[in-house]
Amino acid sequence: MKKIIRVCQLIVILLLMVSCFSEEFPHELKELGYTVEDLKSFKHLEKTILAGKIPKVFFEEVRQYSVFQPQNLLDYYFLHLQGYSIIQSLNRINHPNFLSWEDKTYPAITVEGIILVNSKYGLSWGFFPTELVNLQGVGFIKRPNETMQIKKSALSAYSLLYQAMQSQQLEPLVFSAYRPYEKQKTLWEEADPLNRMYLAKPGHSEHQTGLALDIASMESGLTDYFENTIVFHFLSKHAHEFGFILRYPKNKEHITGYPYEAWHYRYVGIFHAQRMHEQNLCLEEYLYFNYPLPLNPN
Ligand code: DAL
Ligand code: ZN
Repeated sequence: MKKIIRVCQLIVILLLMVSCFSEEFPHELKELGYTVEDLKSFKHLEKTILAGKIPKVFFEEVRQYSVFQPQNLLDYYFLHLQGYSIIQSLNRINHPNFLSWEDKTYPAITVEGIILVNSKYGLSWGFFPTELVNLQGVGFIKRPNETMQIKKSALSAYSLLYQAMQSQQLEPLVFSAYRPYEKQKTLWEEADPLNRMYLAKPGHSEHQTGLALDIASMESGLTDYFENTIVFHFLSKHAHEFGFILRYPKNKEHITGYPYEAWHYRYVGIFHAQRMHEQNLCLEEYLYFNYPLPLNPN
């Protein structure tokens, strides 16, 4: 009999323990799809989840991204509720000024194989691209004591674009290709205020990546008149088919940070160039809307 009482006591104690624990596990969390196990791994986020009533399916998805910041969970979720994709919610919160002017600079980032260099994201003086080759087999401006260079991948793509233009009796000329940091520094220091508008500061020029080309025709040179030439019309229609984008388009000046440049083309590969062209996005917009961007260093 004593044994039976002892067993009953134990059962009661056990039941009490279970009921205590289930009271600790908020009922609302269960409704949102979380389990007791989940609670153990993100106890510190419980209040945030409850405050925003964040469903487990959202939490599970957003935390898969390496750029996920637990302290921003609620903000991500509120944006997502407003219709932003998870990637856009992450970027809008992690990089609120990505598409606007900011008086800060950061090291260049690479997203989906695309290196982003602009007025905010820069390269150090010691950055030299790999696989630079001399520009050859395409038309370019010859200057004394100057060898034009470009990354091998960009030259292969540009050679095809050049051949396509030549087959239409067009004769585009490359006016500028790879520019090392020091060269950009000299240009910047020697430029008058008007020309500086069109120039990137040293470290912030795409020409330092070896992936940018200034292309124009002999008649226009690097002037706004280039826009009226057949070479420009051909590039506008077909450059993306070969992996090039017009890097500083009209109406995107507030995003790129530079005035419209009809002559500056950037190699990003066919896949990305096609998508940017179809969606009418400049490089900054394309990355921001489509890919989770790495966090800026503090
Ligand atoms: N003209 C562009 C912005 C450069 O200097 O790289
Ligand atoms: Zn350029």
